[in-house]
Amino acid sequence: MTGFNRDIKIATSILAADFANMGAECQAAEAQGGDWIHVDVMDGHFVPNITFGPQMCAAIRPHIKTVMDVHLMIAPTDPYLEAFAEAGADVLTIHAEAGPHLHRSLQFIRSLGKKAGVALNPATPETAVQHVLDIVDLVCVMTVNPGFGGQSFIASQVDKVRRLREMIGDRPIHIEIDGGITPETAPSVVAAGADILVAGSAVFKGGSVNNPEVYGDNIRAIRNVAAVA
Ligand code: DX5
Ligand code: ZN
Repeated sequence: MTGFNRDIKIATSILAADFANMGAECQAAEAQGGDWIHVDVMDGHFVPNITFGPQMCAAIRPHIKTVMDVHLMIAPTDPYLEAFAEAGADVLTIHAEAGPHLHRSLQFIRSLGKKAGVALNPATPETAVQHVLDIVDLVCVMTVNPGFGGQSFIASQVDKVRRLREMIGDRPIHIEIDGGITPETAPSVVAAGADILVAGSAVFKGGSVNNPEVYGDNIRAIRNVAAVA
């Protein structure tokens, strides 16, 4: 990852991609203008769905030129962090709700040489990350209850984003928004201070690896409204 800035970035969530074609889907999303590749890891325990683990991350890594943004919806996290780091993650995001020792887990991620992220479920207030702001690179505000793609944006989270942005001040910390991002919902969170927009369904809908230009149109539709928010 290069130097920190708050330019709006679209992190395309491959949860909405074709699982039988993951390498090609990552390449297509990047070629069509996606900034980061967002990888949703789910364990069927912390969230009610199962996706993939470190082996999938390692398999797609050679197909990603930009940033592999790994969102761990798993509990516990610590026993698996090394494996995801070795699989080539650039950002490792864990949930504040996933364990009792958030500070220790984030320190561990940093010690592995990775960017450390912390995600907040809709029910968790921003104050849950106040004590770790000096050891995180990214705070992810979930705007759906984690577990599935294609859910509706929870608008009550926009105020949380605003309060978080204020709390962060000058620190070089990204605010990432995950869940229900579309050209309709993106402007509100960008205006509130977000800079990384995760989008799954809104990017991959209507396209395929054989028809990837649709991904480009979908990404531009989000980027254009975000630019003027
Ligand atoms: C939800 C995942 C999201 C998901 C977003 O638990 O963390 O990253 O892929 O999907 P959309 O953009 O379809 O809401
Ligand atoms: Zn995610």
